[in-house]
Amino acid sequence: MALALKKRDFLLVGIAILILAFLWQAPPESTSRVPYDNDHRQFFDIVKTDGKKAAEKFCEECHNKDAIPFPEGHPAKYRCLFCHKMQTP
Ligand code: HEC
Ligand code: HEC
Repeated sequence: MALALKKRDFLLVGIAILILAFLWQAPPESTSRVPYDNDHRQFFDIVKTDGKKAAEKFCEECHNKDAIPFPEGHPAKYRCLFCHKMQTP
C-alpha cells in the first residue's frame, strides 16, 4: 500500500519543493549589505564586541538626508542592521 504512490502524490511533493525553494530565496538576502570598507570597517568590530544596537547609533552620522540621502521610499530607518546584514569580510 505505502508504495502505491499516485501521480497526485508526486505533484504534491513537487509543489512542496517549489514553495520551499521560494521561501529560501525570499528577502532579507535582497537587501544590500553593509560593505567592509573604510567607512564601515569600524562597525564590524563594534557589532562583534557590543552588538548591533551599539553600532547602529553611528549610521546616521553619514546616512542622513544632508550627507548620504536614503533612496526614495526607504523603509523606517530605525534598526539598520535588522535589515542590512554585515557583509562577510
Ligand atoms: C563615515 C560615514 C559612514 C558611516 C558612519 C556609515 N556609512 Fe554606510 N555608507 C557610507 C558611504 C560613503 C556609502 C556609499 C559608498 C559605499 O558603497 O561604500 C555607504 C553605503 C552604505 C550601504 C550601501 C552599500 C551598497 O551596497 O550600496 C549600506 C547598506 C550602508 N552604508 C549601511 C550603513 C550602516 C548600517 C551603518 C551603521 C552601522 C553605516 N552605513 C554607517 C558612509 C558611512
Ligand atoms: C525595514 C528594513 C530596513 C531598515 C530598518 C533600514 N533599511 Fe536601508 N534599505 C532597505 C531596503 C529594502 C533598501 C532598498 C534595497 C537595497 O538597496 O538594499 C535599503 C537601501 C538602503 C541604502 C541604499 C543602498 C544602495 O544600494 O544604494 C542605504 C545606504 C541604506 N539602506 C542604509 C540604511 C541605514 C543607515 C539604516 C539605519 C539608519 C537603514 N538603511 C535601515 C531596508 C531597510
